[in-house]
Amino acid sequence: MWRASVLTLFPEMFPGPLGISLTGKALTSGIWSLDAHDIREHTTDKHRTVDDTPAGGGAGMVLKPDILARAIDAVADANASEIRPKLLMTPRGAPLTQARVSQLSAGPGVTIVCGRFEGIDERVIAARGLEEVSIGDYVLSGGEIAALALLDACVRLLPGVLGAAASAEDESFSHGLLEYPQYTRPQEFEGQAIPEILTSGDHGKVAAWRKAQAEALTRTRRPDLWAAYQARPKPQKG
Ligand code: ADE
Repeated sequence: MWRASVLTLFPEMFPGPLGISLTGKALTSGIWSLDAHDIREHTTDKHRTVDDTPAGGGAGMVLKPDILARAIDAVADANASEIRPKLLMTPRGAPLTQARVSQLSAGPGVTIVCGRFEGIDERVIAARGLEEVSIGDYVLSGGEIAALALLDACVRLLPGVLGAAASAEDESFSHGLLEYPQYTRPQEFEGQAIPEILTSGDHGKVAAWRKAQAEALTRTRRPDLWAAYQARPKPQKG
């Protein structure tokens, strides 16, 4: 079973949307597990204090390293073959990619720390070997929604989660291109017809049309992905 442990000040945000639909069914059927832990449970003072003012001054509050380290240690993996990457969701992390999602999904699971406030004490990041991950160049009010996004992306790749096994193969990013346009009945919608090639029954032509569409979309919408696609290593002949 693929295991996810989440450390948060808001454990009630989990499983949230992951309890519904594909990921929810996979959770119920035991393909993956999710445990959300309240960081506050690891405080020792009467007021259950998790944060303090930033050293050097400034606005906001910083999550205390001793409390967070205790919370992380409490969910630590016991045996070496089970050791899961420990991620910290933060806008200053490495941008999450489908390639990293794919690797995480192929492993034993993840432990995820959700940041809040202005941040967490820098020392705990190195002390516990946290991998900083961002889900995009915008700022959320905490790491929880980012954790939900990362988990959704990982879980849908687990064996047995997607109904049509092929559908993860074909989609955006798996070959470095955006997905080609899709159509279904009716044949005509508000004056627009389905492209003729798609109803021709010629599978070769359909595949070529889809590839050309995917390439054109990627070139115009995502020049960054297009450059990477063009620079990709090509299979060697002979
Ligand atoms: N926490 C706040 N903003 C975030 C982001 N963009 N990615 C990951 N974690 C975050």
